[in-house]
Amino acid sequence: MPAESNMSTHSDPQSSETAFLEMRDVVAGYGNTTVLHDINIGVENGQIACLIGPNGSGKSTLMKSIYGFADVKSGTITVNENDITGRSPQENLMAGMSYVLQDASVFPQMTVHENMLMGGYVFDDDSQAARRAEELYDEFPILGDIRNQNAGTLSGGQRRLLELARALMVDPEIMMLDEPSIGLEPRFIEDVFDRIKQLNNLGTTILLVEQNAQKGLSVADRGFVLASGEIKFTGTGTELLNNDEIGRLYLGG
Ligand SMILES: Nc1ncnc2c1ncn2[C@@H]1O[C@H](COP(=O)(O)OP(=O)(O)O)[C@@H](O)[C@H]1O
Ligand SMILES: [Mg+2]
Repeated sequence: MPAESNMSTHSDPQSSETAFLEMRDVVAGYGNTTVLHDINIGVENGQIACLIGPNGSGKSTLMKSIYGFADVKSGTITVNENDITGRSPQENLMAGMSYVLQDASVFPQMTVHENMLMGGYVFDDDSQAARRAEELYDEFPILGDIRNQNAGTLSGGQRRLLELARALMVDPEIMMLDEPSIGLEPRFIEDVFDRIKQLNNLGTTILLVEQNAQKGLSVADRGFVLASGEIKFTGTGTELLNNDEIGRLYLGG
């Protein structure tokens, strides 16, 4: 480890430590449209962080700006102190970041296994992808059981698990999940959050966007409330859950 100090270059004199995943003074949007204003957040290695906020507040845009699907107009995004601002989605994937989009979809005409292999398309050789799929079937036996089934025939819960597992094919250091519980029957929702904890226990740092704010914050080490493109509150998941104002405004309580 180089013994460098970057304290003096920080615009925020209070935080001398750089978080594993960090956004500093980020302004982002699409073309001429600015959606996010001056975003400052940090996620520590191994944490689950959850972003909540009303519809249209910019949650998906925040994830897209990290991953290279939205335009970062100013500010910096770093992972492990490497500047990744403006890096392409493909490069991010290769570098160990995966992203399950809000409208993630599986290929319905392909089998579960074929879908899994698609998640490993960045590997140089196919046998590497096949080996990785086997590892994931060991981790999620229910997927192994249905590996030859067409993805179009899966239940909502099975499909979501396939989406998560497919994103794990690259063995990501960081996983971003946009609304993983949306559209699921209540009985599958608990299961998705259990899976998220399971992924995190494997060592993956997770940034989660959740409409189900109670559930999302309850699994989160760190929470952020976004409204009108600005971070309004930051704290531990528990702090945000117990905050009266957040409860009233964002948790329907
Ligand atoms: N591709 C796009 N081009 C232009 N504006 C967009 C695009 N995607 C989203 N927006 C706008 O950005 C704002 C935030 O959207 P989004 O990030 O999807 O919010 P959330 O995920 O919190 O519901 C909305 O006003 C939306 O209309
Ligand atoms: Mg969204």
